[in-house]
Amino acid sequence: MKIAVFPGDGIGPEVIAETVRVLEAMRLPGLVLLGGDVGAIAYQRHGHPLPPETLTTAREADAILFGAVGDPSCDGLERHLRPEQAVLGLRAELGLFANLRPATTFEGMEDASALRPEIARAIDLLIVRELNGDVYFGDKGQRTTEDGRREGWDMMSYAEDEVRRIARIGFEAARGRNKRLTSVDKANVLETSQLWRDVVTEVAGEYPDVTLDHLYVDNAAMQLVRAPGQFDTIVTGNLFGDILSDQASMCVGSIGLLPSASLGERKTAGGTFGLYEPIHGSAPDIAGQGKANPLAAILSAAMMLRHSFGAEDPAQKIEAAVARALADGIRGADLGGTASTAEISDAVIARL
Ligand code: NAD
Ligand code: IPM
Ligand code: MN
Repeated sequence: MKIAVFPGDGIGPEVIAETVRVLEAMRLPGLVLLGGDVGAIAYQRHGHPLPPETLTTAREADAILFGAVGDPSCDGLERHLRPEQAVLGLRAELGLFANLRPATTFEGMEDASALRPEIARAIDLLIVRELNGDVYFGDKGQRTTEDGRREGWDMMSYAEDEVRRIARIGFEAARGRNKRLTSVDKANVLETSQLWRDVVTEVAGEYPDVTLDHLYVDNAAMQLVRAPGQFDTIVTGNLFGDILSDQASMCVGSIGLLPSASLGERKTAGGTFGLYEPIHGSAPDIAGQGKANPLAAILSAAMMLRHSFGAEDPAQKIEAAVARALADGIRGADLGGTASTAEISDAVIARL
């Protein structure tokens, strides 16, 4: 199990240190951890947010465990030098186009949701977010026009093969769940979305056992708060998936609870090469205070064991320990409790 561990900035190193403690407590045979700098810390040390040596380490590994990148001190840098380019670069360079973001209400956590408990109780959904295209990776820039107005642009586009491959991931995921797939777009306004909808509808022919419906993203955002229990699997583009997943996190309690897996086509001995990270960022407002919830990162490690190493039992063991810790009332500040970052992972380790 060769894992590249890239902690990054802010609370990234805090939650990753706890996740490594959990992995070490599991006594997994053959665990090898490789280090690397990403983000603002990498820019400070090497002059680039994703140094070549980090990328080399990433390629040597079977999986990447990623913390978070981003620092307000870097907001004025040219875009290609900003910390966020580390995660965008890894996703692009390694062809990690399929981002899985599950959101499930843990038992006894209904009261921690931003929604009423009876609405929160039913949540068990998976967002399948396309990660290599959309407005994120199109031509972008700023300029001053002849009449002196500043102008900015970001080109949104998808090609049919990009939509087809993520649609198939969505249908396959739905097939393994409750066989309902909701595709989220903005086809009433955007041509990119009309193509998205047409291609997803074509792919549906390959999956007669899965029920497909389509929602406009504004309605989807509303439905996610009104009745999130209606969703099983959601497939959507890069930008809409980014926004809806942060929103889904508060429906189940906290952004500190949502893990993710970013997968491509490269196979490993036990599964698929992937990058695993909490959906949250570097949280500069709480960094260095021991307040970060490490559970999103710990649950990301469980996804790593499942998807990249085929280690389903250890993955479930971690997930069960997290569920038990939460059921026992272990909660950080994000969930209205007082447990510190280390106390939360101690509680998980004690329940493995
Ligand atoms: P953020 O996710 O870092 O924080 C949003 C809010 O949630 C903050 O109030 C923060 O304190 C809280 N929060 C986040 N994670 C938490 C945790 N584990 N426990 C408790 N509270 C938590 O989003 P932001 O503030 O918009 O962005 C901060 C920086 O992170 C920016 O530079 C941004 O670009 C970057 N970012 C990076 C990633 C990534 O590395 N994949 C993801 C999102 C944002
Ligand atoms: C995420 C983050 C990233 C994204 C940023 C940091 C580039 O918000 O992983 O959700 O927008 O994909
Ligand atoms: Mn995000």
